[in-house]
Amino acid sequence: MNDFHSLNGATPLEPEEMDELKIGHITTREELNRFEQDNIHEALQWLEGRRRVDILTEKFIKTLHQKMFGNVWRWAGTFRRSGKNIGVDWVQIPVSLHTLLQDVRYWIEHNTFPTDEIAVRFHHQLVSIHLFPNGNGRHARLMTDVLLKDVLKQAPFTWDVIDIDVEDEVRNLYLKALRAADHGDYSMLLEFVRSNQRKI
Ligand SMILES: Nc1ncnc2c1ncn2[C@@H]1O[C@H](COP(=O)(O)OP(=O)(O)O)[C@@H](O)[C@H]1O
Ligand SMILES: [Mg+2]
Repeated sequence: MNDFHSLNGATPLEPEEMDELKIGHITTREELNRFEQDNIHEALQWLEGRRRVDILTEKFIKTLHQKMFGNVWRWAGTFRRSGKNIGVDWVQIPVSLHTLLQDVRYWIEHNTFPTDEIAVRFHHQLVSIHLFPNGNGRHARLMTDVLLKDVLKQAPFTWDVIDIDVEDEVRNLYLKALRAADHGDYSMLLEFVRSNQRKI
């Protein structure tokens, strides 16, 4: 088996997921990162030119993941079917997502929170559900930026949607802010997303 060690806050891959790599000759994490980054660049281009549809749907959320990781992973765009150290029981994923999407629509309609807080809560809950076998952080950051731009008419956050597995101060700050959000405190994450630091 390849040596894919888990980084701080990253999801360990199941052996059967490793078999799901579309590119057989990838052997190192660095190579995998590069292929994933190229794929995400393609997704960013697709986003610019896409037909505008309702983005707060299971269909769009899966499509975005497929566009970001579909060149690399067979399971891109499909919900996970195994347990992870983060996330709801996998059988609950569709219902949890449906509830979140309804909540977000409600928050927007009723101005329940300031726009940044709506986006931050959406991001945190999306990663907390942990829809996919991998790529949840990058997908949820990009999805949140799409929500900001398309629906909330705001500038995207200052985080990075492409790089992730760099274990450094900024990533640690991001994970710390997510853990505070796990306990209902969104203040750190709210500060983080507009802090304009070197990207995650
Ligand atoms: N305590 C936490 N609460 C909520 N989300 C978390 C927590 N820790 C990590 N995460 C999220 O999980 C992501 C890692 O999941 P993963 O599927 O490996 O995504 P990626 O491959 O894009 O890094 C992190 O980037 C972060 O968004
Ligand atoms: Mg990962």
